[in-house]
Amino acid sequence: MPHRRVRTRQVLLFVLAIGLPCLVLVALSLRMLAQERELAEKRLADERRRMAADVRQDLLTRLERLRLQAAGTVHADPIVLVADAQGDRLLLPWDAQSTGGAALDDPTFSAAAREGEREELVSRRFEAAGAAYRRALGRAHHPAQTAFAQLLLARALARGGHQRAADKLYRTILAAPLAVADEHGIPFALYAARRLLDRPAVADETDAAVLELVRAALACASCHDPERAFTDGRRLAVGVFGRAGRRNVPAIINRAWGRSFFWDGRVTTLEEQVLTPIEDPDEMDLAVSQAARRVDLTVDQLSRALASYVRSILSGNSRYDRFAAGERTALSPEEQAGLQIFSGKGNCTACHVGPTLTDERLHNTGVAWTDRRLLDPGGGNGTFKTPTLREVTRTAPYMHDGSLATLEEVVDYYDRGGNANPFLDPELRPLRLTPGEKNALVAFLRTLNGDVSEGPSQ
Ligand code: HEC
Ligand code: HEC
Repeated sequence: MPHRRVRTRQVLLFVLAIGLPCLVLVALSLRMLAQERELAEKRLADERRRMAADVRQDLLTRLERLRLQAAGTVHADPIVLVADAQGDRLLLPWDAQSTGGAALDDPTFSAAAREGEREELVSRRFEAAGAAYRRALGRAHHPAQTAFAQLLLARALARGGHQRAADKLYRTILAAPLAVADEHGIPFALYAARRLLDRPAVADETDAAVLELVRAALACASCHDPERAFTDGRRLAVGVFGRAGRRNVPAIINRAWGRSFFWDGRVTTLEEQVLTPIEDPDEMDLAVSQAARRVDLTVDQLSRALASYVRSILSGNSRYDRFAAGERTALSPEEQAGLQIFSGKGNCTACHVGPTLTDERLHNTGVAWTDRRLLDPGGGNGTFKTPTLREVTRTAPYMHDGSLATLEEVVDYYDRGGNANPFLDPELRPLRLTPGEKNALVAFLRTLNGDVSEGPSQ
């Protein structure tokens, strides 16, 4: 027995001498491993966060650059603007858009397309664009991104001659709940619906509620006609049942940069602005709640939808922009002389300034002053908001009351120094322009027409 006890003790000692340190070692190394893994995970998370921040920063920088470029309206890209107005959520497909767009807009491609040959090259380009958009679809994590990527893909398909596939995608966009339920989807829905409405056979099958929505937007277009830079060519607006409006329809161009709205600047946000014509008895004369119900939206959604649509209406890349961007031959010598007068002797840039050619402020230029009284007080004492001059040849007649029919009349009006009245803006005075200078100024104003686009795509 004692022998066995000794053996047991030996075994115990052995276990203690070897096992315990082993156990401790194992425990220690396990802890170290865990710590290391924790560290590695933390490092990875940090890395991811940094990368995400980098990517985000990169995208934001690019977006900002494009936005600035758009503000300079060298190449105003409504996609960027819509993305901007709607926040980060659209950045991803926008990125793909530039890849896909680059594939489509490659100069060799354009040349080939113009020559109407080299089929193979053409279809390869569309495939490249399509692939970029498909990748974007795969990565989309917000319904708006999906709609956006689908829309771009559909456009590439349509341009590549795959009309049926494109129509199918347009209908998918319209069928998504987003189309009518979320303001992010509205510009896409409008664009898709317009493409389908162009093709009556397909239009029949299109969702009725969305078509209703498009019609609501088109009702805006009965005064803001896209063919006339979103004006109506009349002296004063004509509303529902032919009711006479009090003022001239202003161009809705580059309003994304607007700081106040209406001729008298009485409204400060587009969201608020777009509901006003619906209710105005002289315009659409429809309760806002009723209009919203018609398209199955809340009033808030309707106002945001219309506002984001209005924000997508842009004009840029005029000959004046190209000149300002360094293309010296974009303006003729006479037009260049006109530009000199515009910013010099004519003093026009005192108010028509910056890329939108308006300071967004109210001024009394005397237009409302007739027979020694103000016919319209405007924003007070006969002041009215400086309108944009983009697309100006297409927005006649001019001024809040449509009282001047031609650009020549406008220049003559300023040459006189406006209508003298007690509240006249100090920046106005007789200009004493020669007939040649007047012609040059008008010639310059005509260079402010550019490419107008609406909806989430050019
Ligand atoms: C009956 C014609 C008519 C209809 C319909 C109409 N508008 Fe207007 N719109 C006008 C007139 C006139 C003004 C200027 C009114 C004023 O300044 O008092 C105006 C002003 C605006 C402005 C302000 C532009 C600026 O720079 O100040 C926006 C934006 C606008 N409308 C958008 C819309 C939208 C969106 C709709 C559809 C919901 C719409 N309009 C329907 C006639 C119309
Ligand atoms: C003091 C500020 C001011 C100056 C300076 C000025 N404008 Fe204006 N401009 C306005 C305002 C405000 C209106 C709208 C007035 C109204 O409708 O009653 C306007 C309207 C116009 C319109 C009509 C646009 C439209 O869509 O109806 C044209 C064109 C125009 N200006 C060109 C010029 C030119 C060219 C010059 C230089 C010779 C000039 N403006 C100088 C403030 C100014």
